[in-house]
Amino acid sequence: MCRLTFFLLGLSTTQVLGAALGKRAAVDDCLKAASIPVDTPGSADWKADAAPYNPRLTYTPVAIAVPTSIEHIQAAVSCAAKAGVKVNAKAGGHSYTSLGFGGEDGHLMVQLDRMYNVTLDKKTNIATVQAGTRLGHVATELYNQGQRAFPHGTCPGVGVSGHALHGGFGMSSHLYGLALDWIVGMTVVLANSSVVHTSETENPDLFWALRGAGSNFGIVAQYEFKTFAAPSSVTYFTASMPLTKANGVERMEALEDYIKNSMPAELNMRLFAGSSFTQLEGQFFGDVAGLRIALAPLLNKTGGSIQMAQSTGWIEALTHYANGKLDVTRPYSLQETIYSKSLELTGLNGTAAKDFVNYWFDTAKNLKTRSWYFQLDAHGGKNSAITNGNHASSSYAHRDKLYLIQFYDRQYSGAYPSTGYSFLDNWVANTTSSLAKADWGMYINYADSSLSRATAQQVYYGTSLPRLQRIKAALDPQELFFYPQSIQPNAAA
Ligand SMILES: Cc1cc2nc3c(=O)[nH]c(=O)nc-3n(C[C@H](O)[C@H](O)[C@H](O)COP(=O)(O)OP(=O)(O)OC[C@H]3O[C@@H](n4cnc5c(N)ncnc54)[C@H](O)[C@@H]3O)c2cc1C
Ligand SMILES: *[C@@H]1O[C@H](CO)[C@@H](O)[C@H](O)[C@H]1NC(C)=O
Ligand SMILES: *[C@@H]1O[C@H](CO)[C@@H](O)[C@H](O)[C@H]1NC(C)=O
Ligand SMILES: *[C@@H]1O[C@H](CO)[C@@H](O)[C@H](O)[C@H]1NC(C)=O
Ligand SMILES: *[C@@H]1O[C@H](CO)[C@@H](O)[C@H](O)[C@H]1NC(C)=O
Ligand SMILES: *[C@@H]1O[C@H](CO)[C@@H](O)[C@H](O)[C@H]1NC(C)=O
Repeated sequence: MCRLTFFLLGLSTTQVLGAALGKRAAVDDCLKAASIPVDTPGSADWKADAAPYNPRLTYTPVAIAVPTSIEHIQAAVSCAAKAGVKVNAKAGGHSYTSLGFGGEDGHLMVQLDRMYNVTLDKKTNIATVQAGTRLGHVATELYNQGQRAFPHGTCPGVGVSGHALHGGFGMSSHLYGLALDWIVGMTVVLANSSVVHTSETENPDLFWALRGAGSNFGIVAQYEFKTFAAPSSVTYFTASMPLTKANGVERMEALEDYIKNSMPAELNMRLFAGSSFTQLEGQFFGDVAGLRIALAPLLNKTGGSIQMAQSTGWIEALTHYANGKLDVTRPYSLQETIYSKSLELTGLNGTAAKDFVNYWFDTAKNLKTRSWYFQLDAHGGKNSAITNGNHASSSYAHRDKLYLIQFYDRQYSGAYPSTGYSFLDNWVANTTSSLAKADWGMYINYADSSLSRATAQQVYYGTSLPRLQRIKAALDPQELFFYPQSIQPNAAA
């Protein structure tokens, strides 16, 4: 959910060890010698760039490079390698677990959000997008330059990079697929500081790996995205979902059957619930009358009804789900103290649906001290472009999943309580306890700080993991692009 708040928290002071000081000096000297723009520690820019989306996970970088060119990115990667420090890209900075910082203290952060040019080629309809562009800006530019678009998430401040390199699901994805499905080329700085271009035909292993697990293989400097013609009008809506503990399993099964077998491609939808509401919301590529026909079979079975349906232009619909200004670049700050988990599921019925619903009504509904929600996206199904896309074409491992669920637990003021984690941990554990391993996974774009490295790799990448480990061994054997859940190189995987 895109809730705008203002940046209020100061930086936490972090003890810097002696060894780290030596590395810091080495990185600083190298960046200076290469004339790479940096944030001065303590400056307003440093404070803004070192403020994580989720203050629960606040880390101090050894230095923050703020490149404005591919050459700057290349030189920054080279400086990190020479100084023996890990390096990570930070684009929109919206990782739930501060992975743009490397998920720990002492990394070189390559803060990309000064690079946000978007250029649409009117002949090919391919857009060249710099890696620090935020979703709301790329959407605005594509529309203004030629009424074009590609599918992506709803929050305007999310970076196109973290988003599209690990999936990218939103209100056009049932019809048009994931953001990563629309990438046709990338210019990337690799661990050995070389710059390569990758596409289906150039460095195809890298192209496969970056689209699904991009944070592990380099720093992408620029993308080429194909685009679709933005429709002149779409309809956004909410509908009621009268779901109780008693009818919950039956209603979840009705929803599953509908999404799996009959939900039309043009409908994009999720079940959205918090402590005091449960509703369907989405976007239909068509008019209100068409939406009524599309939803009728589901509403008939669940007893729900359309509460709000509004046909508008493309930009207005994007703005509706952005919950605020759409065209955002830098500076941009949004912070929430959260713990989040995810599930990608092939289905939710029978025992698993019962366990999910019981936890929802018996435990979640009784939690009054924090604000939680879950969003259960209609990710797959017979008419889903994600399901119907080529499963082997990218390392994204969950095209077979019907649902993408995000669980989000938010502490409004002060620190997240140490006793809080078990709330979502238990919800997920209850939901998966009866499921076969092949029936569930997780989504790294809703990164979960509780997972061990081994578990994280397994649930995020599933059957793609062995090939990813081999590619990691070939391209980054020293793990320059390390974070606590990054892919472990293994040439023999
Ligand atoms: C408010 C909010 C709403 C969201 N809504 C959605 C949604 O609707 N749908 C959805 O699918 N997801 C959604 N997300 C999740 C979002 O897609 C991920 O958090 C995404 O990774 C953020 O990308 P970023 O560039 O902003 O993050 P960052 O924190 O900058 O980066 C995230 C990861 O990508 C890596 N990375 C960044 N840039 C590069 C690069 N150029 N090359 C290589 N690696 C790079 C980073 O090192 C890090 O590991 C939402 C998140 C938030 C906070
Ligand atoms: C973006 O494009 C403008 C206009 O061409 C140019 O002046 C600027 O340097 C570009 N910015 C970056 C970061 O490439
Ligand atoms: C860097 O790695 C790439 C990919 O393995 C390789 O093609 C290239 O030759 C390497 N460059 C250098 C300078 O070693
Ligand atoms: C659901 O559809 C059936 C069969 O078309 C119809 O008889 C019934 O009245 C409908 N129920 C509702 C609540 O609309
Ligand atoms: C029920 O859920 C399982 C996974 O839990 C899934 O594989 C199966 O397809 C679902 N059944 C139906 C009828 O949707
Ligand atoms: C289900 O949740 C409860 C807390 O409500 C917890 O005690 C139990 O261990 C969980 N079950 C599983 C299988 O994780």
